[in-house]
Amino acid sequence: MSKHDDDAVAPATRLVVAGRRKEWTQGIVNPPVWRASTMLFDDVATLRAAVKRPNDGLYYGRRGAPTQWSLAEALTELEPGAAGTTLHPSGTAAITTALLAVLAPGDELLMVDSAYEPTRAFCEGLLKRIGVTTRYYDPSVRGEAIEALFSERTRAIFMESPGSLTFEVQDVPAIAAAARARGVVSLIDNTWATPLLFPAIGHGVDVSILSCTKYVCGHSDVMMGSVTAVPGLFETIRKTGQGLGHCVGPDDAFLAARGLRTMGIRLKAHEAAALEVARWLCDQPLVTAVLHPGLPGCPGHDLWQRDFSGASGLFAFAIRGDDAARVRLVDALRFFGIGFSWGGYESLALPIDPERLRTARAWESPGPMIRLQIGLEDPADLIGDLAQALDKAAA
Ligand SMILES: Cc1ncc(COP(=O)(O)O)c(C=O)c1O
Repeated sequence: MSKHDDDAVAPATRLVVAGRRKEWTQGIVNPPVWRASTMLFDDVATLRAAVKRPNDGLYYGRRGAPTQWSLAEALTELEPGAAGTTLHPSGTAAITTALLAVLAPGDELLMVDSAYEPTRAFCEGLLKRIGVTTRYYDPSVRGEAIEALFSERTRAIFMESPGSLTFEVQDVPAIAAAARARGVVSLIDNTWATPLLFPAIGHGVDVSILSCTKYVCGHSDVMMGSVTAVPGLFETIRKTGQGLGHCVGPDDAFLAARGLRTMGIRLKAHEAAALEVARWLCDQPLVTAVLHPGLPGCPGHDLWQRDFSGASGLFAFAIRGDDAARVRLVDALRFFGIGFSWGGYESLALPIDPERLRTARAWESPGPMIRLQIGLEDPADLIGDLAQALDKAAA
């Protein structure tokens, strides 16, 4: 358990103090960048002692140094009940490592149908090749239907809540509890909410995964992922990541740690502006649907109200018309970049087609869809920009 692992410390305070051990910072506020591949030992005896304890001392560059350890510890402290965190070169690497750590040939994986596309691709690619089968399930499954998901061969169940294209909120505590009762490992891609808005391990999940590329870094200039896990699974995940040769560079770890310290206020600003834009979109004649977990129309909105302490800045909407109208809209935007990787300080717009991906239940599209990441610009400027772009789409 970590140093601040008690309920008395508020998440906003943890975000500031976590991971800043004096022996790592030497008294400097931000842990410095320790660049290293080679560690030098005073003598052979010291080298031999270090080999016996490769995980908690300076040993080899791939095992990290205080810059990486400090970030990992800070992420662990945001998930009370967790045993530790591993860092990976991308969010996708974090997801694939966690899955490889808990699955073996012959196992079945339950994968939510709304999962991020590369997560599905990994199931259909490498996992299939090594003899793991994947069964996709509807993200809106609740109550007794949850129990019916599991088979004798189910070894793990993966959630993404809300889904990052279609935004259904899952009944994570019920799914995690049903899994634990059967000895099935539960994992979640927690990138949208981060542990700040949804501490997944506290809600009964075994493994909480982040693309730190998004809100943790927050400035669209680092690729990184993390896996935070309960005691009993953390060591397996650490060994798997190490076996795959994963590590993150100290400069990236420094940037991620610096981003993390301001994630709380950034998320509040993303939430307020995104809700303002989403509510405005609901009143526009060309808009047929707005999918935002904080709005009553979104599937699982009641679960979001029950389980989450806020929303981030990513949601989607649909318009009347065809793809050409959608392209006119997106191309007309001034303040929204056109791009995939969200969670930075800048706004983004992306045409999305989730119907291509779904297999458990067909996705009934409310029209051509656009995903928005609402950044830290003034929401009035974003709304004005969307207004002129909607006019162009309607023309
Ligand atoms: C929900 C979600 N999970 C994971 C990832 C993967 O993260 P990365 O780009 O760091 O590999 C993404 C990236 O867009 C994502 O949207």
